[in-house]
Amino acid sequence: MPTLLIIEDEVHLANNIAEFMRRREWDVEIAHTAEDGLARVAGIAPDVVLLDFNLPRMDGLATLDILRERDPQARVIMITGRSSVQLAVDAMKAGAVDFLVKPLSLVNAHELLQRTVRDVRLHRRIEYHHSRDRSTTAHLLGESPAMLTLKARIRQVASMEPVDGAPPAILIMGETGSGKELVARACQYESGRRERPFIEINCAAIPANLLESELFGHERGAFTDARERKIGLFEAADQGTLFLDEVSEMDAAVQVKLLKFLDDHRMRRLGSVQDRRVDVRVIAATNRPLQQLEREGSFRADLLHRLSVIRLALPPLRERGRDIALLANRFAATIGTRYGKPELMLSLEAVQLLETHPWPGNVRELRNVIEQAVVTCEEPVLDVSAISLPAVMTQSMTPDLMSAAEPVGDALANAEREVILRALENCNWNVLQTARLLGVSRDTIRYRMRRHELRRRLPDPG
Ligand SMILES: Nc1ncnc2c1ncn2[C@@H]1O[C@H](COP(=O)(O)OP(=O)(O)OP(=O)(O)O)[C@@H](O)[C@H]1O
Ligand SMILES: [Mg+2]
Repeated sequence: MPTLLIIEDEVHLANNIAEFMRRREWDVEIAHTAEDGLARVAGIAPDVVLLDFNLPRMDGLATLDILRERDPQARVIMITGRSSVQLAVDAMKAGAVDFLVKPLSLVNAHELLQRTVRDVRLHRRIEYHHSRDRSTTAHLLGESPAMLTLKARIRQVASMEPVDGAPPAILIMGETGSGKELVARACQYESGRRERPFIEINCAAIPANLLESELFGHERGAFTDARERKIGLFEAADQGTLFLDEVSEMDAAVQVKLLKFLDDHRMRRLGSVQDRRVDVRVIAATNRPLQQLEREGSFRADLLHRLSVIRLALPPLRERGRDIALLANRFAATIGTRYGKPELMLSLEAVQLLETHPWPGNVRELRNVIEQAVVTCEEPVLDVSAISLPAVMTQSMTPDLMSAAEPVGDALANAEREVILRALENCNWNVLQTARLLGVSRDTIRYRMRRHELRRRLPDPG
């Protein structure tokens, strides 16, 4: 569900737009002043902001500037009282994506918003692909037997290229934060496909009805919104790799199409009559246990088998023995350098403490704990006192994770819910900050907030 923030002092107009968009499955928030909008933007983390040019007290362009500073990812569409070329030019120069003129047509506004959010999402993924390092198994730290075996297996799997057709799909399994994305990248950048595209899509972050056209593309006029022809990610990833993250959240209809694709590596754009052959390696990842997915019946068993021709399983961090110390020291060194404390070391006791923690958030959690310790520590040695492990995890979480009575899936879901809730509370329910703290995208946070029904409880009035 995309999120919209409307900053508009005409109450009636703001309410009308909000109503119209909510009926079309958008999350909408309204601010009637620039000050209020600016104060709330980081907490809302909107995909798009509709910003009125003529707000009391604050100039439209100045507001736009601050908005973009507070939330660089938000796309801003200006609303102007009259059509003025100069105004439009200024707004675009200042970073607005487009503008709408009053009196506003709700249908046009909806169309523009829809288009913008689609572009944003596609843009973010592609940008991601270009900006992130081309990491290999060398970036996957760890010397425990399980990790050494995994790295050898990745190298072996990456080099598998049948003479005819695309290589078999790979399924990466592991708890949240255990390194699935790193493994996917290593599979790409150690393979002969390394110079070709690596495209990632998070199946949980995209509304089901959009996912299909994102993946397969569409012809012009295939559905009401399809103004132009668009190639899908399968075609965009030709000769490279498509990484389907959180594949367990894929909608049933898309599962059928993916299964068909894996059968013959042929696909068809929505609204087209022609099949195309594309050479794409599919890598899927999930943090939900396979058995659970099969049991629940939410995921097709035949697709699961197709996807998991090759399975790579990441062990949870708590089962990697001395890797905890290795990773902690490495993170302390790199993060310390970044904060101007290159000599920073962990005390023996601190390492021992880290080794007793169950790490429900795995490597991501470890890195965050170290980062927090590095930032707050004033001594040359990071000791136990500098390390704050969330009590909720050391006390209530451990028995949960160990208990045989509770299925692992539930324990993990509970642990995840707790981690996110605590992070949100620490960040005063600021979605952007929480995403940064946990090292995930804001779409992920928003998605999980919905899934775990996490909502800020407002104090009772009066
Ligand atoms: N073995 C490792 N060595 C170094 N860094 C690691 C390792 N494993 C994970 N990390 C780091 O931990 C963070 C989380 O890893 P990653 O995003 O790959 O996890 P994930 O399994 O995809 O998690 P999620 O299920 O939440 O998507 C990243 O910043 C990653 O670089
Ligand atoms: Mg991931």
